[in-house]
Amino acid sequence: MKHILSSEQYTKESLQELFDLADKIRNNPKKYAHKLDDKIIAIMFYEPSTRTRLSFSSAALKLGAKIITTENAAEFSSAAKGETIEDTVKIIAGYADAMVIRHKSDTSAIQAASVDKIPIINAGAGKKEHPTQSLLDMYTIKQKIGRLDNLKVAILGDLLYGRTVHSLLKLLSLYDNIKIYGLSKETFSLPQEYIDMLNKKGIEYVKCTNFDELPRDLDVIYHTRIQAERFEGDFGKEEFIVNKEVLDTFSEHTILMHPLPRVIEISTDVDDDPRACYFEQAHNGLYIRMALLLQVLDKA
Ligand code: CP
Repeated sequence: MKHILSSEQYTKESLQELFDLADKIRNNPKKYAHKLDDKIIAIMFYEPSTRTRLSFSSAALKLGAKIITTENAAEFSSAAKGETIEDTVKIIAGYADAMVIRHKSDTSAIQAASVDKIPIINAGAGKKEHPTQSLLDMYTIKQKIGRLDNLKVAILGDLLYGRTVHSLLKLLSLYDNIKIYGLSKETFSLPQEYIDMLNKKGIEYVKCTNFDELPRDLDVIYHTRIQAERFEGDFGKEEFIVNKEVLDTFSEHTILMHPLPRVIEISTDVDDDPRACYFEQAHNGLYIRMALLLQVLDKA
């Protein structure tokens, strides 16, 4: 059974295979329009989402599949009555051919996959992983910069709870000559386990305290929202806001990414800057998720 649970399961080769398939779908959508005609995809989101939920739904529909879903699964599925993730998957396996799950628990996707009756795709698990986001992030970097080796990448915002950052670092660590710069409020610093993971793979992690400490020739600035829903209390607002004035201190080749949604960390005055690629990044998710659905259902 093929599951997509963590970006750790990817290699350079399997990433390239995924990107090639996404490109083929993008270039010839008609060829893929009926690949999943006989399939039903269950979309179970226990946390809010715009991009991931709707792009997976759209991806399934564009491949000819049907979808079954529930609005706000935390409230309207039987999880609200105490049903476990495992029992839910055992039931859904009788109704659908694959399941996409987002849940507040770090272990949710692993629990779902432990049933091993239908492929499970992790669409965001607590603060730990959001592998499909990191796959589309890498696809976007490759598309915009043309390489995945020899990159200087700055990660900004919420490095503590930001699951997209955690998954992205695991994928970046597959490549050669990567340097990562982290800029966040102290409260939202990158956990030591990720610094250790990078160091173990020979990747230098430079913790920065202001924009001036970031090199001007960065390849990527990857900003993230403070994940206010993951902690109690008020730790204040984002201090490191990228606006036109800030972006213009970096190279004309530095791309600006964000998994979205943004709140205040990227100001709208950079939206039309050719370096800002977050909307394109979100659109790329459609092709990556179409490719993932084909792969887990052995229809690639
Ligand atoms: N990037 C992302 O996961 O967005 P959504 O929360 O809208 O799905």
